[in-house]
Amino acid sequence: MPDIESLLKEKRVFKPDPAFTKNANWNKKTVAEYRKLGAKNPERFWAKMAKEHLTWFTPWKKTLQWKPPFAKWFVGGKLNVSYNCLDRHLEGEGAWRKNKAAIIWEGEPGDTRVITYAELHREVCKFANVLKGQGVKKGDRVVLYMPMVPELAIAMLACTRIGAPHSIVFGGFSADALRDRIDDVGAKIVITADGGYRKGAPFPLKKAVDDALANHEVVDRVVVVRRTGQDVSMVEGRDQWWHELMADASPKCAPAKLDAEHPLFILYTSGSTGKPKGILHTTGGYLTQVVTTTKAIFDLKDSDVYWCTADIGWITGHSYVIYGPLACGATTLMYEGVPVHPGPDRWWSLIAKWGVTVFYTAPTAIRTFIRLGDEHPKKHDLSSLRLLGSVGEPINPEAWIWYHKIIGGKKCPIVDTWWQTETGGVMITPLPGAVDTKPGSATLPFPGIDAEVYTEEGDPTKPPGGGLLVVRKPWPGMLRGIWGDPQRFKEQYWSQYKDTYFAGDGAHRDKQGYFWIMGRIDDVMNISGHRIGTMEVESALVSHSSVAEAAVVGRPDDITGTAIVAFVSPTGGTDAGDELKQTLRAHVSKEIGAIARPAEIRFTDALPKTRSGKIMRRLLRDIASGKESKGDTSTLEDFSVLAKLRESDET
Ligand code: PRX
Repeated sequence: MPDIESLLKEKRVFKPDPAFTKNANWNKKTVAEYRKLGAKNPERFWAKMAKEHLTWFTPWKKTLQWKPPFAKWFVGGKLNVSYNCLDRHLEGEGAWRKNKAAIIWEGEPGDTRVITYAELHREVCKFANVLKGQGVKKGDRVVLYMPMVPELAIAMLACTRIGAPHSIVFGGFSADALRDRIDDVGAKIVITADGGYRKGAPFPLKKAVDDALANHEVVDRVVVVRRTGQDVSMVEGRDQWWHELMADASPKCAPAKLDAEHPLFILYTSGSTGKPKGILHTTGGYLTQVVTTTKAIFDLKDSDVYWCTADIGWITGHSYVIYGPLACGATTLMYEGVPVHPGPDRWWSLIAKWGVTVFYTAPTAIRTFIRLGDEHPKKHDLSSLRLLGSVGEPINPEAWIWYHKIIGGKKCPIVDTWWQTETGGVMITPLPGAVDTKPGSATLPFPGIDAEVYTEEGDPTKPPGGGLLVVRKPWPGMLRGIWGDPQRFKEQYWSQYKDTYFAGDGAHRDKQGYFWIMGRIDDVMNISGHRIGTMEVESALVSHSSVAEAAVVGRPDDITGTAIVAFVSPTGGTDAGDELKQTLRAHVSKEIGAIARPAEIRFTDALPKTRSGKIMRRLLRDIASGKESKGDTSTLEDFSVLAKLRESDET
């Protein structure tokens, strides 16, 4: 969580360049008009966007049906996501895009593929037929566990073509985490690959699928993309190669005419319990928000080469690598590997090589590059860039300024976009041709989004002031629920305030009403822009036989934003030593994935608790970050525990 004092000392203001504004998709006049309409009548604003930016098979009858907390947008309307991302760029006015690059892909070893809209359409239709051939029907869930290869995009779009909701599991998650998600979503089929490339070597994926599916009764089909050529075992009757199935598939597949509220995908994210939640997004509202925000915020033009560096396993990859840019008819770049392979300038060489014009990444990456040194970006011609974006966590002003100067050559507007897996698309953001930016602030809500900062009692704060970030009115890309758990959906997001969405973030507004996002106020950590629940890591730790009890907190970290610190009571006492620490780190990797591995483990005899037995995380956070505890400790059960914990510094 950034320090509010230092953030609010930030006084620099960057005005949009008049030349940029002149050509912007949304100029000052448009933005003023949309803000007015969005404030007065958000439904009318979103209906206008849905009509302007998407093609519908059947128009809707009612823009919004709101029975809090359940929303339905564009009721009665019918459309298809793959049709909007592909077919309409091949026919009528869009037909000239037929041979335009839809996806420019580069593998980590340097192999490349450029896929045109016509080719992507053909591959998607073929794979949609493959899915049908495997018995997948409208409404069946398909789990995708894949590296960043074009087949992932093809599989996603093929799912949308036939109305089979996909659930993508990030390739860094472990077999156990994969199995939990497969079970929770009730998947019928898993699409995977032998592996992918990372840090110069192939990593395995199929093996994790085999482990996840051992003795599994529901999933009886697995399709495997051959990417690395590594040895994999294929289970007879269950596993089939992608390329063999595609060889015989027909390239003709009519898009299903789907209800606007038909489930589009389920994406798991961490919450404040040990069990990740399946966030459900539906078709019409989601696509309306992502296409509109992509056009307006990234100012996408047909001439752009757009690169969002997110992995498709996260929401940013769903909305802004695939659906948003393809619905706009843009060229989207996909890169398979890590940013620093074979050298620390790989990303910058990609920008120069492909002439990237719009670049969207995360503060954690920016901070890593600052540390690696300016000489790496300076080696490459980055002059093609015209707009930069940031997402995933608060960007500290120092990183913002470096991004502006060293990457943007002082000429690119920066859009710092606040949103969440749950919101589907961007909610608070600068509009590059119209809004003055301040380093560290996500500025103002997008038109049609009613974001506010509330006091704990539920009163709107008057700027300047801080509190809890909420959204007061439904928006089209909002989650429609937690898969299979309406009760948790209500409790998690809608119980803090009446009929108002509580985001889990704290925020401050300055005199001008600009939003400065302060980070999570719940038990969710943001590690390198990825959400990990403290409870998830705790349940992974206590599932190990040497652990009696565990409490996990985040502490600030210069590069990853937050680092995971685990306080553990070992069953065999605190003399356990480094070996057990290593074992426990590896255990968490196995249970969840490497991103959840604690940076630090501290052994302790007991954890600080209230008299009612609740772990006092606030104290642990202070201890983990080396701060003196300012807070109230009057309810602490055993004061001696605190003193001992301070001594338990990692050695
Ligand atoms: O704490 C906020 C932070 O990331 C959380 C959402 O995480 P996730 O659902 O994984 O989605 C990340 C990508 C959209 C938020 O609750 N966050 C996201 N963007 C920003 C941010 N914090 C500050 N500034 C941002 N621009």
